[in-house]
Amino acid sequence: MDISGNSKTFLAPAKVNLILKVLHKRDDGYHELYTIFQAISLYDELEISLTKGDDIVVTSDSMSVPDGPDNLVYRAVQLFFKEAGSDSGAVIRLKKRIPVGAGLGGGSSDAACTLLGLNELCGSLLGQDALMRLAGMLGSDVPFFIMGGSVIGRGRGEVLEPIDIPLFDYVLVNPGFEVSTAKAYANLDLTKINEDNKLTYSTEAFEDPLRLVALLSNDLEAVTERQHPRIGELKRMLLDNGAAGALMSGSGPTVFGVFRRGQDAKRAYEALKNALDSSHAVFLAHGL
Ligand code: C5P
Repeated sequence: MDISGNSKTFLAPAKVNLILKVLHKRDDGYHELYTIFQAISLYDELEISLTKGDDIVVTSDSMSVPDGPDNLVYRAVQLFFKEAGSDSGAVIRLKKRIPVGAGLGGGSSDAACTLLGLNELCGSLLGQDALMRLAGMLGSDVPFFIMGGSVIGRGRGEVLEPIDIPLFDYVLVNPGFEVSTAKAYANLDLTKINEDNKLTYSTEAFEDPLRLVALLSNDLEAVTERQHPRIGELKRMLLDNGAAGALMSGSGPTVFGVFRRGQDAKRAYEALKNALDSSHAVFLAHGL
């Protein structure tokens, strides 16, 4: 393979959802959401190399994600080159650090990182609007990762509004099994969701750490917890170890504790790492 010398390593951050309200099921089968995405400092690494010729090669160091065309990263490369009208190829080597099927958006972030990375290596051929459009074609969470930071997501998660909220510290615990997002939505009983959909979350509430922590909620949590009671136990452990609030992220099963002081987060991280067996993965991160 002829690597054209244009090669760089990029970081793809994970996310947590501080709020995830499912408003209703739409005619297109997706669910209308109100969510707060928060990017965090837990990263996959993507080494992206442009190549002459139009081959696309995607490999990863994880047994949990497929190499080649079945990886969302591969589809991101195809979409990028088609939109950019380029006849280059790419080699992407993916180092997975974000657990897979975990509610942390790892696959979506890898895909967004691929679009952003290729665009940088190609001299910014595409503008933000085009990148966001391609991201939306790849998945509901992908546009968020083009933007990053703290963002309100509406629609199926792709209608985005950046917000200014405190950057907390986080301890994340993944119990070592995967959850299917599609199944979590399919098992959601919409009649059981509170009709508190007149969303009163104000920017003021977001700026007050105490009020924001009180607003932590996730409509998918009960669905996943019903099948995996471990989620409730891990939340309890985070709270017992000093978290101001604890919640499952996305469709789970990863749970996170919110901390207002880095040293408290570090202490809880050490305690949980010691207490939990090696089927669990425990991470310390901060909001980006
Ligand atoms: O968009 P993405 O492919 O990541 O979504 C995976 C699955 O999650 C969808 O096929 C759908 O079943 C479900 N989903 C949903 N409503 C959303 C986002 C995802 O029902 N807003």
